[in-house]
This record gives sequence, structure tokens and C-alpha cells, in this order.
Amino acid sequence: MKNILFVASEGVPFIKTGGLADVVGSLPKCIDKQYFDVRVILPKYTCMSQEMKDKLSYVTHFYMDFHWKNEYVGILYAEVEGVKYYFIDNEMFFNGFRPYSDKALFEIEKFAFFSKAALSILPVIDFRPDLIHCHDWQTGLIPVYLKERFQGSDFYRGIKSVMTIHNLKFQGKWSIKEVQDITGLPSYYFTPDKLELFKDANLLKGGLVYADAITTVSDTYAEEIKTEFYGEQLDGLMRARSNSLRGIVNGIDYEDFNPETDIHIEYKYNAVNFRKEKVKNKRALQAELGLAQDDKMMMIGIVSRLTDQKGFDLIAYVMDELCQDSVQLVILGTGEERYENMFRHFDWKYNDKISANIYYSDALSHKIYAASDAFLMPSLFEPCGLSQLMSLRYGTVPIVRETGGLKDTVQPYNEYEGTGTGFSFTNYNAHEMLNTIRYAERIYYDKKREWNKIVDRGMAADFSWNVSAAKYQEMYDWLIG
Ligand code: GLC
Repeated sequence: MKNILFVASEGVPFIKTGGLADVVGSLPKCIDKQYFDVRVILPKYTCMSQEMKDKLSYVTHFYMDFHWKNEYVGILYAEVEGVKYYFIDNEMFFNGFRPYSDKALFEIEKFAFFSKAALSILPVIDFRPDLIHCHDWQTGLIPVYLKERFQGSDFYRGIKSVMTIHNLKFQGKWSIKEVQDITGLPSYYFTPDKLELFKDANLLKGGLVYADAITTVSDTYAEEIKTEFYGEQLDGLMRARSNSLRGIVNGIDYEDFNPETDIHIEYKYNAVNFRKEKVKNKRALQAELGLAQDDKMMMIGIVSRLTDQKGFDLIAYVMDELCQDSVQLVILGTGEERYENMFRHFDWKYNDKISANIYYSDALSHKIYAASDAFLMPSLFEPCGLSQLMSLRYGTVPIVRETGGLKDTVQPYNEYEGTGTGFSFTNYNAHEMLNTIRYAERIYYDKKREWNKIVDRGMAADFSWNVSAAKYQEMYDWLIG
């Protein structure tokens, strides 16, 4: 039996702000329990739902030296669907209405504390991982600490680490002086071949330098981040470590996302009967959201964090043009105010065509996947993207920009060969996107049988965790030896 520890800043069903939580929530469930004992460490945020907090039980607590103070480290525990979760409690760091704040320095202190505490609780919970699987910048210090202070003791010596990049844009940077003070790391670590990047200390970089292997969430993104455009100033390091870097595409939870059993949708359907049944969900959603009632109208869904990564500038630029067409747009998500207001504005301007829902709801997201004919994701960059996978599963045709995981998971429709599961365009250009949407409209309205075959192929594609979980397992085996 090999012991694997996941450490992450969010995970379904406990706390979620984005796709990271979906992956941390679903991948451990799919790791083979006969060979691996997988456990997960998350922060215990005050903003977790009461329902989830009620599942946690107190294990113990102790005090840990951190940033010149003696900090409380509480440990809580829960088991969900066969996975063992531990939570680190400290109300000073993990309070607030959201998991993350916009105070960069506080975030660094919070996740430096979390990383150190995650390592410190291991002897206490009597779990010695053979490998720690770290996710994004919040856990970047773990490989560093493992090499530095923890290697001195028998318990920690030889523990391997993997760093998975879900998004290279967020790195956890601040001045060297303060990060050194917070982390207690000697100045040896703050040089350009280690944690320093252009004069700042960079926590993700630490993880990328010291992890035994690096993965990211699609093959294409693994290549893209070696280039200047996508590299977020770390492309040099990505090239230097390219032998240790690989892409493993994300899967989605095929039980949570299943149109045949989904508790959130009114009319269940599958790959055989979607032609008749799926549209009933569109009718229901049009009624629920106050859109024009019309079975034939092409409905385009968007479920997303509203950040500039997702390509909303392209949508804003051609929205008036797009709204001259026979389409309806349903949007769900929160994020940057400028995008929230942009969608609110168009909702007001084209009331029966656009429904902007500026909040987050799991239930509504499932209804949108089920009801929409197409799903729009024109991302500027996209490490993997999960919504297009959910769309494919629900027979909703993705329209995407060819970047990162979108390129790897959506096969563009080819009308001559009768292949493809969606529509895609290459350049980050609003009219290229609009032309592609209009091409999709033509197939939808004029060649419905062709459209339905695209749906057939999309629903037949397999983006469950089966294949990718096996790849992680192979990597764990190989690293642990
Ligand atoms: C981040 C990325 C997204 C990816 C997700 C899970 O949210 O932006 O592309 O699917 O992480 O890996």
C-alpha cells in the first residue's frame, strides 16, 4: 500500500470557487484504493456551509511556531465517499466570507501557514505519505519545506512531491524581505534559481523548483506554458524542467454529471433519447428565467468565473451583433465587476434574449448544461476547462477557442468528414469567434440531423476520470519507486 496525500486550498463538496475544487473533489475518489491510501488536507474555512461543517469532527490541536508567533493548529476530520479528509483550523487565517481575499500579503501568510501546518500534522494523525500531491501556488511551499526543515527528521525524509499547475497566472508573489520573514526560510532560498522571480519571492516558483515532478491539466497547456505568451514569466523554468513536466487532462465526476440521473434537472435524458427529451429542459429554463418561450430558438450557455482569462472581452465586443441573430444566452457566475456589469447591461438591453445570473448555484449550472444547445468558452487561456466536458456529457455542443484543454477535448466539426464534437476558432479575435458561432447557428438551424450527430459524438466521448486517474497512479508509482 502506498500513501498519497493531496493538499489543496479548496475541494468539493466542502468548498469551491473554481475548477480546482472539482478536481480535488473527484480525483481522489477515482484512485485505486487497493494500492493507494489517499487522504486530503484542506483549510477549515469559516465560510463553509453549515451542512459541511456539521460533517467535521474535532481530532486534536497543538501550537506551531510560525512567523514569530505560536499559532493554534486545529485538526478536524471527515470521511466522504471513501476519502479521508483532514482540515486545518485557525480562525485568524481562515475566517471571512470567502476562501480568498484580495489582500495579497495576507493570502501569502495564510497559505504559508497552511503549508507548514499540513506537514506538521502528519505525525499527529499518524499518516506518513510516500508522496504529497500539491495543487497551485497556495501549496507551493510544501516541496520547499520538505527539502528544507523537514528532511532533518526520519519521518519526513524521502517523501516525494508533485506540483500540479491548475493555473499558472496565480503565483503568490511578494517582496523577498517579507516572505522570508513569514516563511522563516534562510536567504539561501531567495535567489533567481530558487524562489526569486524578478526581485520578488514567488511561492509557486518554489514548488516548481523543488517538486520531484510537475504536472498540468492538459497536454496543450503543458506545451503552451513553455512559451512567453502563456508562460507568465515562468516559461524559462518550464523549459528547464520540461523533462519533469507533463500534461494529464482532467476528468469530471460522471456520477455528479449525468443527465440520466441528475437531481437538479427536471427532464432526465440520455444519448438515445436526447432528441426528444433534452428540449423539455430548455422549455423549463426559458420559463424559469423569463426568456422568450421557443423550443426552436438556439440557446447558448455560459457558466464561468467572470475573469479576463475566460474571454469575455470578445463577447462584450460583438454582443450587439450576436443579439441580431436568433439566439438566447444564459449566463451564470460571479467575478470581476466589469464583466458582471457588462452582462447585466445586456440582460437589460435584450431582456427576452439574455439572462444574466450574477451569482453561483450548482443547481442552476446543471440546468444550463441540460437546457442549452451550445456552450460558449472563448478563453484567452485555459489550462483544462471543465465546463466543456460537462457540456459534452449533457449533449450541449461546445464552442471554444483552441487553447489549452479546450483544444485537447473539443474536436472541431468537419462537415466533409462528418467528424467532430464542437466548434472552435484559433485567434483571440471577436469576429473570428462570432463567425464560428454563426457557423454553428447555420448547422443548428439548417442541418439539424448533422447537429444531432455532433451531439451523438460528444455524448459518446469519455471524459470520466478512468484514463487520467490511471496516469496519475502510474506517475505516483514511478516516483515512489
Ligand atoms: C483552473 C483552470 C481550469 C482548470 C481547473 C482545474 O480553474 O483555470 O482551466 O480546468 O483549474 O484544473
